[in-house]
Amino acid sequence: MRKNPHNNKNLPEDILESIIISSTEYAIIATDIHSRIIIWNKGAELIYGYSKDEMLGKPLPPDLHRQGLPNSEFLFVPDNKSRSHLIDRTMYAKRKDGSFIPISITSTPRINKNNETVGLLILTRDVTRYKLLEQFNSLLIEITHLVNSSSAIDHMCSAVCNTISSFLGLPSVFICLYDYLGNNFYINAMKGLCKSCNTHTCSYFTDENDVAENIKDCFKTYTQLTINHSSLSEHAIYEYMDESVSDRGENFIIHIPLISDVSIIGILHIVVSQPQKTFLLKETQILSLIANEITAGIQRKRLIEEIKEYADNLEKMVRVRTHQLREKDAQLVQSEKLATLGEMATGIAHEINQPLGGISLITQGLILAKKRNILTDEMLLEKLNAIVEQVDRIDKIIGHLRTFARQSDQTKTPVNIKMPLLDVFKLIGEQLKKQGISVDMHIEENLPYVLADHNKLEQVFLNLIVNAKDALNELEKVRKHLKSKNEATEYFDLVDKKITIKTYSNTSHVIIEIIDNGIGIPKSIINKIFEPFFTTKEVGKGTGIGLSITYGIVKEFEGTIDVESEEMKGSKFIVKLPIFKENNM
Ligand SMILES: Nc1ncnc2c1ncn2[C@@H]1O[C@H](COP(=O)(O)OP(=O)(O)OP(=O)(O)O)[C@@H](O)[C@H]1O
Ligand SMILES: [Mg+2]
Repeated sequence: MRKNPHNNKNLPEDILESIIISSTEYAIIATDIHSRIIIWNKGAELIYGYSKDEMLGKPLPPDLHRQGLPNSEFLFVPDNKSRSHLIDRTMYAKRKDGSFIPISITSTPRINKNNETVGLLILTRDVTRYKLLEQFNSLLIEITHLVNSSSAIDHMCSAVCNTISSFLGLPSVFICLYDYLGNNFYINAMKGLCKSCNTHTCSYFTDENDVAENIKDCFKTYTQLTINHSSLSEHAIYEYMDESVSDRGENFIIHIPLISDVSIIGILHIVVSQPQKTFLLKETQILSLIANEITAGIQRKRLIEEIKEYADNLEKMVRVRTHQLREKDAQLVQSEKLATLGEMATGIAHEINQPLGGISLITQGLILAKKRNILTDEMLLEKLNAIVEQVDRIDKIIGHLRTFARQSDQTKTPVNIKMPLLDVFKLIGEQLKKQGISVDMHIEENLPYVLADHNKLEQVFLNLIVNAKDALNELEKVRKHLKSKNEATEYFDLVDKKITIKTYSNTSHVIIEIIDNGIGIPKSIINKIFEPFFTTKEVGKGTGIGLSITYGIVKEFEGTIDVESEEMKGSKFIVKLPIFKENNM
């Protein structure tokens, strides 16, 4: 159509005319040199609302188009000089009923055979749809942005309602979310509803007969998962509409389901005018796109909330469990100590029996001397002193047992390793001796201190030494057994049962080695010995917690424990504890 008719020699006039007349998509308007309308086709009638009869022969109304440029300037009749002038842009057409619709407009001067401007040819096209699509595009971008923000669901829904309302100029937009537990839809976010709407919920019905007339469209929406609409004034929500909305004359409400997979999570409601409704119901994919974005946003946020809650719970559970474990740990240390105490009872009984026997003998001697009248003051003093000495010995043993049995508190203090080591031998030395076990001590003088707890270290050394003792006795048993059966000559000779203790330090650690030439640990189990309740000892003898507690205590003092062992030859346990430096405390 842009072709200059002047050059178009071959197109028969009747064809040209029928094109002009029948075009409904394009308004085709032509004016003469005096700006009077000479062509006003069907398309022009549709776009502007004026009939051909009303317009032909009339001057082109000066306010027919607007935006930006003053109309007079735009619709001028170009003179010869500007005959190539062509205007092509988007403006608004003022319709007969006073409304405006967006149009794309092209205006060119008409030139006659003598190269004179004889009028104007104007082509316009209704671009409402493109304008709206453009608007929806920007709306979609904005909504995508909102649903991806870090805000909570309520805040996000509220922002979405406001955005839809302001982008599309809708008086009311609201989102109802479905709560599966209560089987209700409740208004989660809204724009254009009065405050009391918060009390409004809507039950989920499965049978249409239960549904009131004024919520039928919602029912269809959530059962069929389709977009539906009704007249606003006939819908149940009408009574909750802000006055500014309900006063606006005939509005419609469109219900758009928010669908995740195939189930409903809510409904987006928008209140629209008649033309908006017509347009939107034709372009339902736009509404579905918006609904999809909102659904995805809500679901993502719900998931995040769930994960967060889960993580919080997990954290709480870990805290409670850690606390319980700590308590259990403390109990285990304590019960292990008590068990060891039981085991030591024999040795201790012996230890105490000796001085008691001594006291008894001395006292009997005194009684006898008195009876025979040979008791001198000197003798009495000497014997009483001997008794005090024996009592002191008992007192020491008992005093030591008391400290050992006490549950030690958590405080760490600088400790000289030598002290707990020697204390262990006060407890168990007698027992070792009785079982024919010799102890070789190589304690380096002036060892640096470690930051630990005396009682707990004593517990560590006691466990390791008791294990060494057991290993020695076990090897002895095996050797005896083999010898009696004449089976393995290489083990015939009974070697001395010996525990060697070495302590020394390097630049960072104090190292304690506890070495025995006992039964040793098979390779197959060496990785398991620190596990709680792992034991190779017979029922009632070992509980398998000694090494696990030892490990726990060493760890607590930021140390390490390692083991080297060879079957039938012996084992070496190496404990390393960091040196205490004054400024570390
Ligand atoms: N010095 C060692 N020589 C040989 N085996 C050892 C030695 N120390 C530990 N073990 C092995 O490691 C296992 C676990 O030791 P742990 O001290 O944890 O438990 P237990 O001594 O069996 O029982 P509990 O210490 O509770 O009385 C022992 O049963 C033993 O098999
Ligand atoms: Mg043990």
